Amino acid sequence: MSSLPSPYNVLGIETSCDETSVGIVTDGVRIGANVIASQADLHARYGGVVPEVASRKHVERMLPTLHTALEEAKIGLSDIHAIATTNRPGLLGALLVGVSCAKALAYALDIPIVGIHHLEGHLYSNFLVAPDLEAEFPLLILIVSGGHTQIMLMEGHGRYQILGQTRDDAAGEAFDKGARLMGLPYPGGPNVSRLAETGDPKRVPFPRSWMGDSLDFSFSGLKTAIRTFVERDNGQTLLADIAASYEAAIVDVLVEKMRRASVQYGVKTLCVAGGVAANRSLQTKMRQMGEREGLRVVIPDPVLCTDNAAMIAAAGYYRLKHGTPHSLDFDTYATERLS
Ligand code: KG4
Ligand code: ZN
Repeated sequence: MSSLPSPYNVLGIETSCDETSVGIVTDGVRIGANVIASQADLHARYGGVVPEVASRKHVERMLPTLHTALEEAKIGLSDIHAIATTNRPGLLGALLVGVSCAKALAYALDIPIVGIHHLEGHLYSNFLVAPDLEAEFPLLILIVSGGHTQIMLMEGHGRYQILGQTRDDAAGEAFDKGARLMGLPYPGGPNVSRLAETGDPKRVPFPRSWMGDSLDFSFSGLKTAIRTFVERDNGQTLLADIAASYEAAIVDVLVEKMRRASVQYGVKTLCVAGGVAANRSLQTKMRQMGEREGLRVVIPDPVLCTDNAAMIAAAGYYRLKHGTPHSLDFDTYATERLS
């Protein structure tokens, strides 16, 4: 295991989707800044992220966000020891804005750079709230975002095994599509979860897709179920009850599959990451299950669940500590699995 000097400031950049973010993390754990310029309002009128609009906004906001982050952390560029940037997967044009800025900085400052898988970033958001996780490998990690739903076994830094994943929609996608069918505005997930807080989760018996003994997920049947229900219901049922029942159908499966995975693989420490990890019901049910089963459950603060660059800087720190930097000609990929 190599070691890095301390303090070691990693500047992280994240532009894979519709958030322009720059974060500064010291020694992999202390957040000096985590500035997130969200474009959600801009994309709301289209009902989803428009790639070309996202790329253009990243270009506009990249340097102002960088300057704000340096101001917040009260340091200058000369205090940065390394750069970490999301280089996969995501919207290609959007990713390229962050990667180009990162490469220019690394070249000008003559410091190491590392390209980070976006999901690895999400996963390392857990290390920002619980640095002692390093002593608890192997970990089980549920990654639930707009594009991914996976249960991963993390055996060590950079050592992952996918135990289960969605065969169709991701959990965040299920929230977003369900929201649209309920007539709720973009971004769907947070709106469903806000409405669900006042609803009865037992009011509508939406199906849970267990996929036998597999740790895989499927949410497309649920989408069909809510479409059919809304069409037939004709406004009779309280929207809050539909939202709460729909949310419960997603969350119950996520929590139960994590419980099964922990039994199957004998893992006692469970982490959750990705945008959907900000869901209150998921957090509560995961924690209750952990208490019942005697498991440790780690969930990042909401600001670290959504796309942010502090998590990319943290992942970069561990990549540099346990591996080697990339050369400046590393590539950017729209799709690639983390394994
Ligand atoms: O990780 P993320 O910010 O971006 C991706 O990498 O995809 O995740 C975004 C997803 C969206 O589908 C959004 O609707 C969902 O996370 N989400 C939520 C909540 N907050 C964000 N879903 C349910 N409840 C929430 N509170
Ligand atoms: Zn994400």
